[in-house]
Amino acid sequence: MRKPIIAGNWKMNKTAAEAEALIAELKPLVAKSKPDVVICVPYTDLWAAKAAIAGSKIRLGAENVAWADSGAFTGEISAAMLKEIGVEYVIIGHSERRTYFGETDETVNKRLKQALANGLKPIVCVGETLVEREKNKTKRILKKQVLDGFKDVTDFSDIVIAYEPVWAIGTGKTATAEDANKTIGYIRSLVKKTWGAEVAKSLRIQYGGSMKPSNAKELMAMKNIDGGLIGGAALKAQDFAAIVNYKD
Ligand code: 13P
Repeated sequence: MRKPIIAGNWKMNKTAAEAEALIAELKPLVAKSKPDVVICVPYTDLWAAKAAIAGSKIRLGAENVAWADSGAFTGEISAAMLKEIGVEYVIIGHSERRTYFGETDETVNKRLKQALANGLKPIVCVGETLVEREKNKTKRILKKQVLDGFKDVTDFSDIVIAYEPVWAIGTGKTATAEDANKTIGYIRSLVKKTWGAEVAKSLRIQYGGSMKPSNAKELMAMKNIDGGLIGGAALKAQDFAAIVNYKD
């Protein structure tokens, strides 16, 4: 059985003071929740968030990590810097990084290996754009993202994949639960073919893209969907908690 994992991706939202307030509101609402609960916050919020989540089941995540240990990489943040704060998870290869900041499957692979080498748990994002979907290229794109992104990776025990169809992010359009389940099933079959049945069976794969309280239950009922990566709805304590507590 795969344990569900609900993660918030705050993107470029919330100052440190705002993060403290949001976490204070969220903490009691998720105190008894069954899934793993993660919040991935901006770098500048990490120290404040670490203090604010103390004594709760909320785990801390960052939104990216450098592929190098240290050195001349202006603007980057290293795995050691994140580890020192107490960060456990890190998002890698989000479509916004791919679209606006030149992230490729190759850089995803380098960041992923660096995260794993330093004991960070990666949440690796994959997903097709609307144009790719309309041209029937979804499988081809996902195959490349998975095979190149996870190249040379052998241990998947700390890895989470987030399937985020780009056309569903922040648009209010959700993939239907059946569609998301089918596509995530394809990703799982790909993993099975390349890394074996055991890895495929235990690997947690989230859905992301306009996931909210009103559709969380339906999505989470699907057999291939093990969690959600939540953008907009993670910025409101009530909404995020309602998704985390989708079973109640
Ligand atoms: P939304 O939930 O705002 O669509 O964002 C999804 C996302 O990109 C999470 O990483």
